[in-house]
Amino acid sequence: MMVPPNYSTEFADRVALVTGAASGIGLAAARRLAAGGAALAIADIDEKGARAVADVFVAEGGRAVAVGVDVTDPVSVKEAVRTVLQEFGALHLAVNNAGIGGPVAPTHRYPQDEWRRVMATNLDGVFYSMRHELPAILASGGGAIVNMGSSCAVNGFAGVAGYAAAKHGVIGLTKTAALEYAARNIRVNAIVPGFIETPLLAGATPTERSHLIGLHPAGRLGTPEEVAEMAAFLLSERASFVTGGYHLVDGAYAAQ
Ligand code: NAI
Repeated sequence: MMVPPNYSTEFADRVALVTGAASGIGLAAARRLAAGGAALAIADIDEKGARAVADVFVAEGGRAVAVGVDVTDPVSVKEAVRTVLQEFGALHLAVNNAGIGGPVAPTHRYPQDEWRRVMATNLDGVFYSMRHELPAILASGGGAIVNMGSSCAVNGFAGVAGYAAAKHGVIGLTKTAALEYAARNIRVNAIVPGFIETPLLAGATPTERSHLIGLHPAGRLGTPEEVAEMAAFLLSERASFVTGGYHLVDGAYAAQ
């Protein structure tokens, strides 16, 4: 029988990289992994924000480093992984979470430059991240990766062609990498959150907000911590036979 985990030490010998960790879901995931004892690379295009987060973790007695990264740039991602290895000597866990919402417009009016920007961040960014994380994780003896999907990764959502296409792509990348590395001790999963209370939704009007809430049978938006808890499970040994899937954290949104 499995021994119950000690949640405050289960990541004690693990090094974790979280992209988009200066805000929202990424920040909550980083905080949750730090609470389990992991050494954290707080990676974000918002370098100042990342530094502020890392400073707090260190002040609380944790091990953390801020890493400025633009996930749309493969050279920047390569450098970020190199920095993690230099700083901590290994990489075991990654949460590829950096993402943007992009415009809302029907497909025939969806701006082409915005399409490129959304794909570059939400899909290319996950590919570049895994491309550079995987060799580092292999060299460190194995580990696990979580990619951030969305309800728009498994269902369409009118008005967000770029976002939905990119997030569907994230599921394809996740399944493929899971197959490729399952026998090499790296598990790869995706999380499919419903709408979550983060700065990403800050632009929503009160009407749009209540519409979004109404999409969830649970009658509310999710919290970043609720998504972070799934990430922690998937990255832990508790999920040792869980790979290649996407995991809903959505208040029954997708069940309808
Ligand atoms: P957020 O806006 O609070 O945080 C996103 C973070 O990513 C920010 O710190 C931002 O600086 C960083 N970032 C943006 N572009 C970047 C780049 N090119 N390189 C590196 N970092 C970059 O957003 P939130 O809500 O925490 O979103 C995180 C992830 O969760 C995204 O992938 C998003 O698509 C996904 N998601 C969010 C949902 C929501 O309702 N908030 C629902 C489903 C999925």
